[in-house]
Amino acid sequence: MFKSLDLPLIVEFMLMFYKDKPIDWLLDHIMWVKVCNPEKDAKHCDRQKANLRIRFKPSLFQHVGTHSSLAGKIQKLKDKDFGKQTLHKGHANPLAEVTTSLKTYQHFTLEKAYLGEDFFWAFTPVAGDFIRIRFFTPVRVERYFFRSGNIEHPGDKLFNTTVEVLPFDEGREKTPKYQRTEDGFIRIGRFENGMAEGEVDSSFGPLEALRLSVLTDSPVWVILSEVQPLTHTLSHTHTHTLSHNLILFI
Ligand SMILES: *[C@@H]1O[C@H](CO)[C@@H](O)[C@H](O)[C@H]1NC(C)=O
Repeated sequence: MFKSLDLPLIVEFMLMFYKDKPIDWLLDHIMWVKVCNPEKDAKHCDRQKANLRIRFKPSLFQHVGTHSSLAGKIQKLKDKDFGKQTLHKGHANPLAEVTTSLKTYQHFTLEKAYLGEDFFWAFTPVAGDFIRIRFFTPVRVERYFFRSGNIEHPGDKLFNTTVEVLPFDEGREKTPKYQRTEDGFIRIGRFENGMAEGEVDSSFGPLEALRLSVLTDSPVWVILSEVQPLTHTLSHTHTHTLSHNLILFI
């Protein structure tokens, strides 16, 4: 996309040279003329052009058709990452405070992952690291689903990581058959192949918190691309889902 202010120049440039080179080459030439310095090297030029040419991933546009404007050339172009599955999947989750001992990479925060806006990306986990979801008000969770890694970084998974719940008062005493951590959490599942899913025993009652605990040092960074404590009461008792990632209390 170009600003309309710049269009006359681009159009004139194309009108001058369209018989000599394809448009995409000409576009590159215009940028060269505008921002590159012949006394500096190609790297400098690439950097300068990259400042102007913003690439959005996955691609928002797609090439259609197979005939090139070069006579006789068939061109089956497809943008590499067009229509790719998104790198995260969002859910309307119950309001909660999310915390982690992991060190967040750039702007890929746990908060955004929980709100379904982006994935969470963190530096290499070590044994003892955790991700905790503490609900603002205790919530009856029926099922849970967590996915680590995503298409661009499929290896950034959670390994040897357990899923734990903290029932809200009365549930704690009623469930002797479960193994408990020192701080009262009950282990109910673990990650397998980068995913963890399962049901939450209804005898726990409403939960105060959910936690993922890393048991062994990991060799790689970690991505959490989907977070979903599934609650059946969510849609009709205290929240209304307006869209993908917006929750309104009424
Ligand atoms: C997971 O971590 C625990 C605690 O360190 C360890 O005993 C167990 O062997 C580990 N399991 C796997 C599959 O690495």
